[in-house]
Amino acid sequence: MSIQLHLHSSREAAIRTVAQEMAMLIRNKPHAVLGLATGATPIPLYQELVRLHRVEGLSFRQVTTFNLDEYLGLEPTHPESYWNFMHRNLFDHIDIPAANIHLPGSQVKTEDILSHCEAYEDAIRVAGGIDYQILGIGRTGHIGFNEPGSPADSITRRIHLDEITRQDAAPAFGDLAHVPTHAITMGCGTILAARKIALMAFGEGKAAIVRRALREPVTDEVSASFLQNHPDAHFHLDPASASAL
Ligand code: PGA
Repeated sequence: MSIQLHLHSSREAAIRTVAQEMAMLIRNKPHAVLGLATGATPIPLYQELVRLHRVEGLSFRQVTTFNLDEYLGLEPTHPESYWNFMHRNLFDHIDIPAANIHLPGSQVKTEDILSHCEAYEDAIRVAGGIDYQILGIGRTGHIGFNEPGSPADSITRRIHLDEITRQDAAPAFGDLAHVPTHAITMGCGTILAARKIALMAFGEGKAAIVRRALREPVTDEVSASFLQNHPDAHFHLDPASASAL
């Protein structure tokens, strides 16, 4: 098993490819289950899915979605909550029913975290498992918020965010002190159970970590390296993110 590499001429070309794969999946399987990601990387992907919905009639009416992660401690309506991000960038512009949308909670009480996370895992199982999982990659090598040290078989849980991850989020929050310290994330095991995985990475800033994930031995120091052991994992890169390979 090895990660399948797609070297695109531009990030736009990569986005078009991934959007077409998702559209084909949904047309062939209207009840498809999608694993979705936040961050700067998938924003143009969601714009393209909205365009396919508007122009080509791609319907999400029977689709179910599970997001990778959510900050803990934010109101869902906080501009930086992932609930807000997903509605602003995708859900408000397509025909997916609210009941089909799943994100971990942002305001789960400490004593309820375990049962909340178990319920998230159960909901993915009941939906039939994830058909197509979208991923970005953080500078720590995280997928979801699986920071260094996350085991390959980890499941949905509360995680302490790495300082690099918090620094990368600081501009959006205005100040490092405003960035949450914890999140709930699907585990590496949750992600690896998806039938097909598409990781997108664009720009020079991702070149070093893409190289580590793809070319160096599998290690829990780089959770994206676990994808080397997945039977259908794909990296979609632009020339800049592939420049260190
Ligand atoms: P980005 O984040 O898309 O904003 O670069 C990726 C990630 O942290 O997973």
